[in-house]
Amino acid sequence: MKKTINDIDVFSKVVLLRVDFNVPLKNNCPTDCNRIIEALPTIKFLQEKGAKIVLLSHLGKINHKDQEKTEQDKAKNDMGFVAPKVKEYIGEGFFYCASMDRKIIKEAVNKLKNGEVILLQNTRYEKGEEKNDLELSTFWADLADVYVMDAFGSAHRKHASTYGVPSIMNEQGKPTAIGFLVEKEVQALSKCVVAKEHPYIAILGGVKVSDKIKVIEGLLEKADKILIGGAMAHTFLKAKGSPIGDSKVEEDQLDFAKKFLDIGKNKIVLPIDQVVINNFDNPTDIKYTEDVKIPDGYLGVDIGIKTVELFKKELEGAKIIFWNGPMGVFENEKFAHGTIGICKAITSQKNSFSVIGGGDSAAAAIQFGYKKKFSHISTGGGASLEMIENDGHLPGIDIIEDNEKSENNA
Ligand code: 3PG
Repeated sequence: MKKTINDIDVFSKVVLLRVDFNVPLKNNCPTDCNRIIEALPTIKFLQEKGAKIVLLSHLGKINHKDQEKTEQDKAKNDMGFVAPKVKEYIGEGFFYCASMDRKIIKEAVNKLKNGEVILLQNTRYEKGEEKNDLELSTFWADLADVYVMDAFGSAHRKHASTYGVPSIMNEQGKPTAIGFLVEKEVQALSKCVVAKEHPYIAILGGVKVSDKIKVIEGLLEKADKILIGGAMAHTFLKAKGSPIGDSKVEEDQLDFAKKFLDIGKNKIVLPIDQVVINNFDNPTDIKYTEDVKIPDGYLGVDIGIKTVELFKKELEGAKIIFWNGPMGVFENEKFAHGTIGICKAITSQKNSFSVIGGGDSAAAAIQFGYKKKFSHISTGGGASLEMIENDGHLPGIDIIEDNEKSENNA
């Protein structure tokens, strides 16, 4: 058990709170604030307890190899685009520090009064963030008395703000703890890591097999069935010898897919029909295949009606369900049937614990009105997959003090 914010005294202390405000932006405005909303219970709790809160988060990706690219990426990923939204949720006592000047940052933090909150600029503006740079980690660690990890979506990253800072603060004897969001995520995802109840059904979709190799291997041991949809199903179907028309496949993953189909032959369930189109960018013809075969000149963009029914049957009586990756190109309503069908099929299992492992499937479930119907929707895509792959371990959480250790030391 990790120390949580309930276990530490934060009154009048500077708390460095790592959150994941890496939210999608359109025209420089956040389009989905779920990650901010999910971090609010921790922020409000710390405010009520009289902490001085310093929020740190990354936003997007910044290429530090080419200066022109760095500037372009910085312009696209300015935390200043997110700050007004955070202010809307926090209200009075919220400040934003756009500057990267360390003297200015220190002064702004020193000015905080109990219960006030300051959001700092995108951590990835710093070249040292992704390199877990010691000097940068030390600067951030020295700003605060306490470190709280509540950025579940970034807990798989061994970066300065997620790993370097808590390592240093542990060495300095300063408290480190997890926030309510991480606590909730760990509790829910642990049920999918150590499946105590069965049947345990996993549903995987999305585009790339290569992104999911390790989780597939992990699930092969833990789950009773793995249902595969989305574009990645085409690689498995091709490996099985089914005609997939012009659907994209990862040729370099065909051997893995064959091996996986062989080892998991009683566990893996692939689509049996599909929605196909003649051109991805400008489809002029949509077909619903009778069976698994996709004709030449067409590519699959969603699982078909029979597949939804088949997957629904497989889900019947499931005690644990883990879902990651949409079943089709759900952004286009014509190809959202499979993803919506899976949302319905999962949430109609009244006795099951259902978890969406973040990413696009979480966005889809929220968009289609299923947010409250799942037992848990993770805020972390990569992090929830890595948690399953690594038997419940993530560096950004492992580095936080154990509760027992703190009790023994007391
Ligand atoms: C995410 O969106 O998955 C997290 O914020 C991590 O972002 P990253 O993949 O850019 O590290």
